[in-house]
Amino acid sequence: MEQVDLLILGAGAAGLFCAGSALRPGRRVMVLDHAAQPGEKIRISGGGRCNFTNLATAADRFLSRNPRFAASALARFTAADFVRLVDRAGIAWHEKTQGQLFCDGKATQITRMLLDRMSGADLRMRSAPRSVRHDGTGFVVETAGGAIRTARLVVATGGKSIPKIGATGIAYDLGAQFGLRLVDTRAGLVPLTFAEQELALCRPLAGVSVEAEIRHKDGRFRDALLFTHRGLSGPVILQISSFWNPGETLQIDLAPGRDIATDLKAERTRAGRAGIASVLGNALPARLAAAICEEMGLAQARLADQPNARLDALGARVNRWQVRPVGTEGYRTAEVTVGGIDTRDLDARTMQARKVPGLFFIGECVDVTGWLGGYNFQWAWASADAAGRAD
Ligand code: FDA
Repeated sequence: MEQVDLLILGAGAAGLFCAGSALRPGRRVMVLDHAAQPGEKIRISGGGRCNFTNLATAADRFLSRNPRFAASALARFTAADFVRLVDRAGIAWHEKTQGQLFCDGKATQITRMLLDRMSGADLRMRSAPRSVRHDGTGFVVETAGGAIRTARLVVATGGKSIPKIGATGIAYDLGAQFGLRLVDTRAGLVPLTFAEQELALCRPLAGVSVEAEIRHKDGRFRDALLFTHRGLSGPVILQISSFWNPGETLQIDLAPGRDIATDLKAERTRAGRAGIASVLGNALPARLAAAICEEMGLAQARLADQPNARLDALGARVNRWQVRPVGTEGYRTAEVTVGGIDTRDLDARTMQARKVPGLFFIGECVDVTGWLGGYNFQWAWASADAAGRAD
């Protein structure tokens, strides 16, 4: 039977980074992955340019049943630490917005950097673990190519999002097998879908984008909202989707920072002959303004003819649009999986299972989910580094 000191399942962001952090003289480190290529999600991330970290990284940028859990690892391996590695590798980058750092060139440069950093480790692609057991002194992982024995096993197989490129729920199965608790999982950073009533508005507007603000539970985001044929998308929707649960209603402000009812009343005094839709078009994209006026039977209406109550209703429709999504686009397109291995069962300094010495969970499979904007990769790097350096 082959024997290694540290075996990592998953050659994604967390697994590759963990291998590099774990290497030291005389230590045998192996990484197994069932996919053909390592780092497939890195390749498609950030529109192909990989938003590899965020300068504003802090524990409050993550969803978790224990909001403090991520703080220790994030403090010990920071965004600046990752930027240092990127600079040393000669990879050019830029800040897009809100602290989000992207490669100037291709995302695969990041994968190359991670592979160079772990070049002393044994990377085996197209190699799926068939079973994992503990034989009393170590872990035995069965693969098609034979059994591998290891003192330490790091599970870095990610979440369930995008099964087409290799995502599976194996981390959750292994957690359950070894007695760890699981926080219910669901698709996050994902477009929301709607029933016919809202779709009557969304469909004809597909492609229209508007700056919007949504507050829901602990989430409050202001960013672009995009109408689609199936509902709503865009960064503000992806952000809030991670906080949303089926059955819940969302309130959307389509003109943040403006009180539309007050503006319309002021405009009525100034230029009452104007059509409502064209005045509303000063605050919203013209197609959206026209669609809302149409929906409220105000398509041809002049401002001067409208009582306060109607302008208040129109203002509420724009500033406090109430919608109830029927669902999400699901794991097929979700950028992340919310929930996962319950952090109560992991040591926050090392990511080691409290009751199973030698077993570690890192990256997206843990119940730590970042906002959109490079936070999920920073969590992958930080949790991987914590496990890789653990004594
Ligand atoms: P990751 O999914 O990267 O890796 C898991 C690995 O395990 C894969 O290589 C997989 O093949 C392997 N595996 C799974 N099941 C297995 C099994 N049964 N046997 C063997 N191997 C198995 N984040 C961010 O911060 N900035 C960004 O720009 C983006 N952009 C982005 C775009 C898109 C389209 C998606 C889907 C996601 C993002 N993300 C992102 C999120 C980010 O990609 C994600 O959080 C990290 O890749 C998580 O890293 P992990 O290593 O935990 O899982």
